[in-house]
Amino acid sequence: MEFVHNPVMPNEVLTYLVPKRENALMVDCTTGEGGHTKLFLEKYPALKVIGLDCDASIQEKAKTRLAPFGDRFEPKHVWFDEFWKNYSGPEVDIVLFDLGISVFHYEESKRGFSLRKSEELDMRLDENAGLSAWDVVNTYPEKELADIIFRYGEERYSRRIASAICNARQEKKIETTDRLADVIYRSVPQEYRHLRFHPATKTFQAIRIEVNGELDRIQRALEGAVKALRPGGRVGVITFHSLEDRPVKWFFREHKDELEIITRKPVVPTEEECKENAPSRSAKFRVAERRGV
Ligand SMILES: C[S@@+](CC[C@H](N)C(=O)[O-])C[C@H]1O[C@@H](n2cnc3c(N)ncnc32)[C@H](O)[C@@H]1O
Repeated sequence: MEFVHNPVMPNEVLTYLVPKRENALMVDCTTGEGGHTKLFLEKYPALKVIGLDCDASIQEKAKTRLAPFGDRFEPKHVWFDEFWKNYSGPEVDIVLFDLGISVFHYEESKRGFSLRKSEELDMRLDENAGLSAWDVVNTYPEKELADIIFRYGEERYSRRIASAICNARQEKKIETTDRLADVIYRSVPQEYRHLRFHPATKTFQAIRIEVNGELDRIQRALEGAVKALRPGGRVGVITFHSLEDRPVKWFFREHKDELEIITRKPVVPTEEECKENAPSRSAKFRVAERRGV
């Protein structure tokens, strides 16, 4: 089995998140293919990692990859906010979030995350979840669609795009990613069609965030994770765009009685990493430590 996702900022993550005792417990809230978890399990032979992921397919990959570590890796198929809501286990030494989706989702999942492929509009991370991208694109009222594209995509042509989607779906339902990308491409001004990003990039991001409730889950999960941290324990969060980064920054600030902010400014990848691992280009890493002794 091939692993396509390189863990982002591996050195920085290992530098800032160091277990302070033997037999420490880590929760990797976004295990993906297990890239970060593997680094930790290799470096700390007594560490145990609970590995969460809401996507059962990618979790299968992590299970195979991390099988040599036996019961030091405990996978759980769950949304991270749900996990922390019900958490009643032991105190935790390290919590890691590496938000968003993995290269696997774009390249292999066949669930319509990539606008460069012709796939069914799905975008559900958890394949058992109710709402899909098809529902958003084909059933949301125009105003709601425009608001989502604006709010979760920060797309300045949100209204034009929503209007074009609604016109197109009246003729025939929009079934595939390439048709959606094409409708969006045609709806925006000429000069917007030839920028560095495809004009549908932000809309695709917005629909994915809506389908998976991504932003609401971050704050809820942080609340629970911080309560579970032992004094001196650390939480680290890697984000990929400002909509993800802002709630993390504010959460850390608002919880200053419980948390000491370790990274005054977010840590960003080196130039070398950006060249070698393109998806890391927009990454930001923030870390806070639970106060107390
Ligand atoms: C960027 S990837 C993680 C990559 C991983 N750190 C590695 O090095 O291989 C993010 C993963 O988190 C999962 N994910 C995203 N949001 C989630 C949520 N709210 N709850 C649980 N898992 C989530 C995705 O399915 C994806 O597999």
